[in-house]
Amino acid sequence: MPVVRGKEIEVLFSASAIARRNLELAKEISEREYDDLLVISVLKGSFIFAADLIRAMHDGGLSPEVEFIFISSYGAGTTSGEVKVLRDIDNDVKGRDVLLIDDILESGKTLTFTRDLMLSRGAKSVSIAVLLDKRMRRQSDSAIDADFVGFECPDYFVVGYGMDVAHAFRELPFVGVVKGDV
Ligand code: IMP
Ligand code: MG
Repeated sequence: MPVVRGKEIEVLFSASAIARRNLELAKEISEREYDDLLVISVLKGSFIFAADLIRAMHDGGLSPEVEFIFISSYGAGTTSGEVKVLRDIDNDVKGRDVLLIDDILESGKTLTFTRDLMLSRGAKSVSIAVLLDKRMRRQSDSAIDADFVGFECPDYFVVGYGMDVAHAFRELPFVGVVKGDV
């Protein structure tokens, strides 16, 4: 097992498995009839996935515009979870097809909030691509699902490929679970 910061990391999704899956996702995305697509990467966790997916989309013949929104969700996964925009996009989404890219869909609070925000601003459509889906964590009042899912994720706290514990482990090229000290 790789050792990072003195901890063993169990690899759940390897760099090569993610790269293969990104190509498949890009193909699925390119098969949709999007018009003038605006991709919005939901920061921070999605920055590596978005960077790889948009390049795979280029290889798949797509040429979207790309934007970023910085969302914070306190207590995501709990009923008290509050979702806020910390830094907004600059683009007008009115009449646009929007694709939100995020790392994980869990309770659904973050992406429900972000999707509804874009729809309230007049987006023509809002689709969702996530690397990981923790379906078992979805809140019962949340009817949200992703249009494009990299992998179904087991119910562990995962790190790597952009995802962190207190800002650490984002640089890992794979997705894994932090095990004990070595
Ligand atoms: P949701 O609002 O409950 O769907 O929260 C999803 C957000 O929580 C994701 O965008 C991640 O930023 C974060 N998150 C959820 N599970 C994990 C995890 O296992 N590792 C790192 N971040 C996570
Ligand atoms: Mg996130």
